[in-house]
Amino acid sequence: MKNTSLTYSIIVAALLLFAGCSDLKNDKATNPTTVSVHGEGFANPKSANFHAVLIKSKNYDTQACKQCHGGDYSGGTAEKSCLTCHNKPNGPENCTTCHGSVNAAPPKDLSNNTSPSVLTVGAHQKHLLGGILGNAVACKECHTVPASVLSVGHIDGVARAEVNFDTLSVFYKSNVMYNDGSCANTYCHGNFTNGNAKVMTWNDTTASATECGSCHGDITKTTLADKAVPKQVSQGGSHPNLNGAACSSCHGHVINSSMQFLDLSKHINGTIDF
Ligand code: HEC
Ligand code: HEC
Ligand code: HEC
Ligand code: HEC
Ligand code: HEC
Ligand code: HEC
Repeated sequence: MKNTSLTYSIIVAALLLFAGCSDLKNDKATNPTTVSVHGEGFANPKSANFHAVLIKSKNYDTQACKQCHGGDYSGGTAEKSCLTCHNKPNGPENCTTCHGSVNAAPPKDLSNNTSPSVLTVGAHQKHLLGGILGNAVACKECHTVPASVLSVGHIDGVARAEVNFDTLSVFYKSNVMYNDGSCANTYCHGNFTNGNAKVMTWNDTTASATECGSCHGDITKTTLADKAVPKQVSQGGSHPNLNGAACSSCHGHVINSSMQFLDLSKHINGTIDF
């Protein structure tokens, strides 16, 4: 009981100091080094008083921290640098501080989730690293990318990320839709003549989601060629009839006679290549 109320008063004192400091214009600050400003555990990730928790509750705003920790977070009047721990370019404002690791996209997401089956992690790295079915897909295909943490529209008070498709992209079709994890009518997933216009689920981790035949062709067939070939003229489609020809006999810059991609930059690039 005693401990709880002690902790409580420390938190209140810290919050008062914090609020007070934010209001100060320039001079006559209480000497910050004489008080334990933040209370117990502010630098301890296991503590309920960890600074990341406070920052999250303040809609990820770290600008007030600069008042004592310096304009570049290197110590300031507090003489405690953020950069000892946040040692990437721009310190705490580095793109991977709040989300991302190998790049700025999840994992980790804003709640530290790492599994692709969580919607806020999803198929990010499958798109961003590329290399299996096509080239890497840039962030800007799906989001307005902020130049800095303070860019307008980035941290906007809506906790959920905005998905804004790039209307200038070769992949963009006017009726492309993102709705709560489901993605419909995207060019990449078959919104083209003889394509399957597959509706994708962002956090679907089953292998068949991107198997040959899922975007164009017929996934139930046996060979890769039969799976991948779009509806032919003889089937009521408009793709030339194969008549036994290999894909490579016409699309020889994209794929070889063993159905291996020769040049991934020509697959899912917005143009039918031969
Ligand atoms: C009123 C001035 C003031 C403000 C504003 C302030 N701090 Fe501090 N901070 C300090 C001082 C002084 C220390 C030194 C240790 C102590 O007294 O708690 C410190 C220490 C820390 C530490 C521990 C560092 C270590 O190496 O142990 C962290 C983490 C920290 N602050 C983060 C923040 C964050 C994040 C913000 C903004 C949300 C912030 N501070 C805002 C004054 C401030
Ligand atoms: C003693 C090391 C240490 C110091 C000093 C430190 N941090 Fe952190 N900070 C961390 C750790 C650890 C995390 C959690 C990282 C994670 O979860 O991947 C973190 C997380 C954060 C986050 C992410 C919040 C979120 O919810 O995603 C921000 C922003 C941040 N710190 C800002 C600051 C600022 C500003 C300062 C200086 C005023 C500071 N930190 C000082 C270790 C530190
Ligand atoms: C193929 C489309 C696509 C690409 C490319 C993409 N994203 Fe996303 N992003 C999404 C979707 C879908 C969501 C989930 C939105 C939701 O909450 O429904 C999302 C969510 C996010 C979130 C929110 C995470 C959270 O915890 O809520 C961040 C941050 C993010 N993306 C950053 C990035 C960055 C940075 C890149 C590039 C390095 C990138 N994304 C590339 C589609 C994409
Ligand atoms: C201090 C924490 C923090 C840092 C640092 C940060 N972000 Fe974010 N980012 C967020 C939050 C919170 C969201 C989602 C909530 C929202 O939209 O308000 C987000 C969302 C995004 C999204 C999804 C689109 C959107 O705006 O919703 C992208 C893309 C993104 N961030 C890229 C970046 C890039 C690039 C950087 C580095 C320049 C960066 N972020 C640095 C907290 C951060
Ligand atoms: C994620 C959706 C998707 C999957 C899965 C997919 N494709 Fe494609 N494929 C496309 C798109 C989109 C095109 C349209 C042309 C373009 O943009 O390259 C295409 C076109 C082709 C072409 C025509 C040449 C060209 O221009 O690219 C061949 C050949 C092809 N795919 C073979 C395959 C094979 C073989 C597989 C299975 C290993 C496969 N595709 C799986 C989306 C997909
Ligand atoms: C006889 C030449 C020929 C062969 C063989 C051939 N294609 Fe095509 N393919 C074409 C032509 C021509 C187009 C463009 C058709 C159009 O403009 O509608 C095309 C277009 C495509 C497209 C885009 C969708 C469409 O129908 O326009 C895909 C996907 C594709 N081919 C995949 C394949 C695959 C997979 C194979 C092997 C199983 C294959 N093609 C074999 C000539 C061929």
